[in-house]
Amino acid sequence: MNLEALKQTISDLKSLSKSQFGQSTLQSELDDLYRSFLGKKGEVNLLLKSLGSMEPETRKEAGKLLNILKSDIEADYLELTSSLTKAANQEKLAKEKIDISLPGLQSKKGSLHPVSRTIQDICSFFERMGFDIEAGPEAEIDYYNFEALNVPKDHPAKDMHDTFYLNNSGLLRTHTSPVQIRTMEKSEAPHRIICPGKVYRKDSDLTHTPMFHQIEGLVVEEDASFSQLKGLLNDFLEDFFGEEVELRFRPSYFPFTEPSAEADIRWNKNWLEVLGCGMVHPNVLEGVGVDTNKYTGFAFGLGVERMAMLKYDIPDLRAFFENDIRFLDQF
Ligand code: DAH
Repeated sequence: MNLEALKQTISDLKSLSKSQFGQSTLQSELDDLYRSFLGKKGEVNLLLKSLGSMEPETRKEAGKLLNILKSDIEADYLELTSSLTKAANQEKLAKEKIDISLPGLQSKKGSLHPVSRTIQDICSFFERMGFDIEAGPEAEIDYYNFEALNVPKDHPAKDMHDTFYLNNSGLLRTHTSPVQIRTMEKSEAPHRIICPGKVYRKDSDLTHTPMFHQIEGLVVEEDASFSQLKGLLNDFLEDFFGEEVELRFRPSYFPFTEPSAEADIRWNKNWLEVLGCGMVHPNVLEGVGVDTNKYTGFAFGLGVERMAMLKYDIPDLRAFFENDIRFLDQF
């Protein structure tokens, strides 16, 4: 090949490479093109190899021209590669862009179950009155649930409680009163305690569930009196309902108190029973070694669900146990 023909070939290759590079949109296409021009078996190498057959005086010039072509193609390749990379990066960035102005996913706030809330409200009043919170086991024995509370073995009062028996001596506590005994057994008088907890009775209808919650109160002091009990319960009920309440005490019977009473509040013109109470029976105090010449005591027990139904105007006891989120959301 003479120099003129070579120059023509070089200029053809240059424009061919330019147009082909310009059309490729993928890096792999660019790479293939690069190899077809500058690879070992590429066009430019073939031309370089053919230099040997040229006149020595044109060979130098031809070599120079081919090297220029080579670096031109190389420069085009590098430039296109960098703009392809840039475009790819931009596309990736656009895809991964996070719109920080979009509102986040809302996570709903939970709330206390009305029973828990009622327990907290009630306990908080009595804590302010200097009461300690006590707890006892839900699986009890006859002694604490009945006997120590002045309910002898075959006493008919046991029938008031439809007890779930576990085995010979085990049972699910039917009230929170056994915590009175456990507390007086483990520490010396005076006592001022409040005990919230679950209790169990074989009872299930519109107004009864086999498990419900009670709160027990016990005060044993040198001059604990029925009038103190009345004053305390009056203050408690007014704190709980947040308004003045009309309260009446009706004589009643519980084996562990003497005298015993039930307290009613006036609710929409009717009297509604809200709790049981009384002066702790001397048998109960003596049974746990309290000196009845020195100490007297009063006690009370109330149903938590019942108090919550009144306060929050909930008509159906079952609402507490169905876990319907629309009901629970209201608290
Ligand atoms: N334990 C009784 C019940 O479950 C409630 C009760 C009444 C508790 C009078 C007391 C009390 O402490 O003095 O029906």
